[in-house]
Amino acid sequence: MNIFPHKIMDYKLLVKKAVEAKKRALPPYSNFHVGAALLTLDDKLYLGGNIESSSYSLTICAERTAIFKAISEGERKFKAIAIASDSPDYISPCGACRQIISDLCGEIDIVLVNGNMGYKVYKTSELIPLAFGDKDLNN
Ligand code: THU
Repeated sequence: MNIFPHKIMDYKLLVKKAVEAKKRALPPYSNFHVGAALLTLDDKLYLGGNIESSSYSLTICAERTAIFKAISEGERKFKAIAIASDSPDYISPCGACRQIISDLCGEIDIVLVNGNMGYKVYKTSELIPLAFGDKDLNN
């Protein structure tokens, strides 16, 4: 059964999956649990949580966990990513994740989730305008 039908911009289910993905986080240092749910163009779902290291800068965000999982399984085309945390406010991807979303997912919907499971949808180019990209390397 296809639970993510095409053309439907209702991301309630994706939001729910991002909230569930927080359970996969391993953030012993910040104790800030983040979940991401990445939807492929053909409606497959990849979940990720943030994973922290005692060498703090080696930490990986939930978004990149989900994206790298999907890419390493051979996925190349994406539709949307939802991001949730325990904060009452909307959580927005860090700069590093914006670059990775731009490079590996392209112009997708980025769904920011708040503590009441409310959400706001942005396009990649809204969150990372004038992005550096492979176009800049191929001159
Ligand atoms: N974090 C994410 O996983 N995604 C974000 O969009 C922002 C920050 C993580 C990284 C770190 O484990 C914790 O949240 C605190 O910065």
